[in-house]
Amino acid sequence: MRQISNKRFCLVVFAMLLTFSAELHAWGLTGHRVVAEIAERNLNRKAKKEIKKLLEGSSMAYWANWPDEIRSDSTHSWQHTFNWHYVNFQSGLTFEQLSVNLENYPVENIYSAINLNTTKLKNKSLSLSERRVSLYFLIHLIGDLEQPLHIGREEDLGGNKIEVNWFSSKTNLHSVWDSKLIDYYKYSYTEYSSLLDIHSKKVNKNLASGDLKYWIYDSYLLADKVYDEIKTYEKLDYQYAYYHKEILDLQLLKGGLRLAKVLNEIFSSY
Ligand code: ADE
Ligand code: ZN
Repeated sequence: MRQISNKRFCLVVFAMLLTFSAELHAWGLTGHRVVAEIAERNLNRKAKKEIKKLLEGSSMAYWANWPDEIRSDSTHSWQHTFNWHYVNFQSGLTFEQLSVNLENYPVENIYSAINLNTTKLKNKSLSLSERRVSLYFLIHLIGDLEQPLHIGREEDLGGNKIEVNWFSSKTNLHSVWDSKLIDYYKYSYTEYSSLLDIHSKKVNKNLASGDLKYWIYDSYLLADKVYDEIKTYEKLDYQYAYYHKEILDLQLLKGGLRLAKVLNEIFSSY
């Protein structure tokens, strides 16, 4: 009897740890792989060639979640990158106000990290392994950029502190957008990528237009909407998935196409 309750206790603790660690992650595994896969399919010849060299033949999707995985590195050597996945703002900013805030943001964040890793990947005098790490981060962070709650609000840690019911389990709003919505559809990452990456060059160019600041503002506006409408949902289930399928697909597709654009640009100077 005693043993059973100990086992139960361990299971509960384990389940709590899983929930807690999931909170810290970004788009779940599938989301990041979809972004990476769509990007890889939209690389030009030069970028494809250079990335093949850097990744020694492995796929971009294979590395897409590495910047989340290193949070578990017991040497703590990656701790300086933990802020790189997001940036938070107060609500109601104009694009100009957000731009000024971004330039003066007091700590490293997704904007400074994407700029830093772009500069490093462009710098051919850096070692192969240094540039490889920057590539891993760009694959991941340009994905995080389109998860709207990664451009969230400080007071609730991008929705991590907003408790919601997803079907019959308790979770938080951030986690719904990271993975619950995506996993609901049960596609593999290759299936999902093929379903999304179906548009003409012209449409793709349009979806990847603008620059990093504009992309951040794009997600920021979407986050505002996500925060706002959550008040109208008592629990999130079929209806929430139904009403957000289109925007979820669009965010993943934009992530992939924007990542391809950034990488095509970086390697054009190689
Ligand atoms: N931690 C604090 N703010 C966050 C955000 N917007 N996204 C993910 N993790 C966070
Ligand atoms: Zn992340």
